[in-house]
Amino acid sequence: MLARGFEVQLVAARETVPLRHAVLRPHQPIDEIYATADEPPDGHHFAAITRGAVIGVASLYHEPLPGRRALESAWRLRGMAVRGEHRKLGVGRALVEACLDAARNVGATLVWCNARTTASGFYERCGFETRGAAFLLPNIGPHVLMECAIATTSTVPRG
Ligand SMILES: CC(C)(COP(=O)(O)OP(=O)(O)OC[C@H]1O[C@@H](n2cnc3c(N)ncnc32)[C@H](O)[C@@H]1OP(=O)(O)O)[C@@H](O)C(=O)NCCC(=O)NCCS
Repeated sequence: MLARGFEVQLVAARETVPLRHAVLRPHQPIDEIYATADEPPDGHHFAAITRGAVIGVASLYHEPLPGRRALESAWRLRGMAVRGEHRKLGVGRALVEACLDAARNVGATLVWCNARTTASGFYERCGFETRGAAFLLPNIGPHVLMECAIATTSTVPRG
């Protein structure tokens, strides 16, 4: 991955917080984000790192799909953020790939997310499909539920 100028590493939840705060939740006190970053505690957290600096983050949590709570094998992608000057260089895709690989390794059959409508095209490029109508999250904006089925052999489609 260093050939791409960055590497994706499994990190502690708290290492994702500064970028999550800066990119996704600047309206929220950072201490609140630190307080909940590790909940639920079986999450997997990834950072894209270049020259010691975190340029992208994403997390995967074992969390039921809304409306299908009985589906035990569903995991949720959250906290997807890439620093502005590093976007459109494949960092986000590499983080999603890391999350989908982790999901596959724990036996997930489906990964879902509440995608900002401004980012839904990105998730589509990474293999996700939209489910249902857009909805509004307070302080953040319009979102849409998206899902990616996990096949045991497939990988994230490339451009
Ligand atoms: C959305 C985000 C994570 C994408 O990260 P990125 O590193 O720029 O994405 P990549 O370079 O890996 O892009 C992968 C593909 O998606 C496309 N893409 C990236 N952002 C896109 C967007 N907002 N809309 C449509 N397509 C997008 C890229 O062009 C690329 O296409 P390709 O398959 O033709 O190569 C990043 O723009 C970001 O952090 N945005 C602000 C925070 C945010 O909205 N996070 C998502 C919250 S749900």
